[in-house]
Amino acid sequence: MVKIRVPATSANLGPGFDCMGIALGLYNTFIFEETNGGLLVEGSEKSFEEEDNLIYLSMKRCFEKINYKFKGLRITAKSDVPVSRGLGSSATCIIGGVMGANALAGNPLSKKEILDIAAEIEGHPDNVAPALLGGLVTSVVDSDKVYYSKIEVPKGIKFYALIPNFKLSTKKSREILPKTVPFEDAVYNLSRASLMTAAFSKGDFKLLKIAGKDRLHQEYRGELIEGYESIIKESEQAGAYGSFLSGAGPTILIAVPKKDRNIYLKLRNHVEKLKYFWEIKELFIDNRGAKICR
Ligand code: HSE
Repeated sequence: MVKIRVPATSANLGPGFDCMGIALGLYNTFIFEETNGGLLVEGSEKSFEEEDNLIYLSMKRCFEKINYKFKGLRITAKSDVPVSRGLGSSATCIIGGVMGANALAGNPLSKKEILDIAAEIEGHPDNVAPALLGGLVTSVVDSDKVYYSKIEVPKGIKFYALIPNFKLSTKKSREILPKTVPFEDAVYNLSRASLMTAAFSKGDFKLLKIAGKDRLHQEYRGELIEGYESIIKESEQAGAYGSFLSGAGPTILIAVPKKDRNIYLKLRNHVEKLKYFWEIKELFIDNRGAKICR
């Protein structure tokens, strides 16, 4: 029996589209057991119980890669990461599945090999990399291999995840993006993404206000999320370090000083007036990443 805990993640962080993400202290936990036959998937999220669920598919892909023949499997999932909200719930299933398969097979794979398989399944590395490694991870895929650099985020920052009571699929949120962008928008993003990694590594969180801006995806996606613009404006006025769409949305991630209370109260007051219900979750960085629970 293997038990694995995988953190939620927030990808993009504004300008780092498809290449940056952070791990957050909110978790899905998976228990994997090899049985004498068949597949049994149990979990708190109904969609996890279907035959084609992502945890099982990720395990199967990993078993194929390492040529491990299994008889049967029981997968139990306890999920706290909301589904289709931009907090990396799919990445938890993929990392959980690949790590679980690797552990049941006697750990033949390195972390780097686990990441390569996981990124191939997800199609981009920006959620699976921080889910596996923790902290803030910048990652790129080149010739089917993931190259990454992890920053252990210094103390002094926390996040409010504003999670609405409606879903937005990544597919829909990617379809709305333009096929090409002006040269100056590309420069706008690469300069801010570079500033973002420097700001996070040094703990210069006041830079996030400028570093977190983006022209590649947020404005387009904001149109799909009622309340997006007003929440971003409110968080800026309230004095947040920065605010970004979390992954493909619809969750909005707001970076604030670790001891904040005032910004929270202002945001709560603001979201109460909006059409949809927005839960506010206080989250801290997880600098450790996925772990096997002993
Ligand atoms: N980078 C991805 C996107 C994250 O923004 O579409 C969501 O999976």
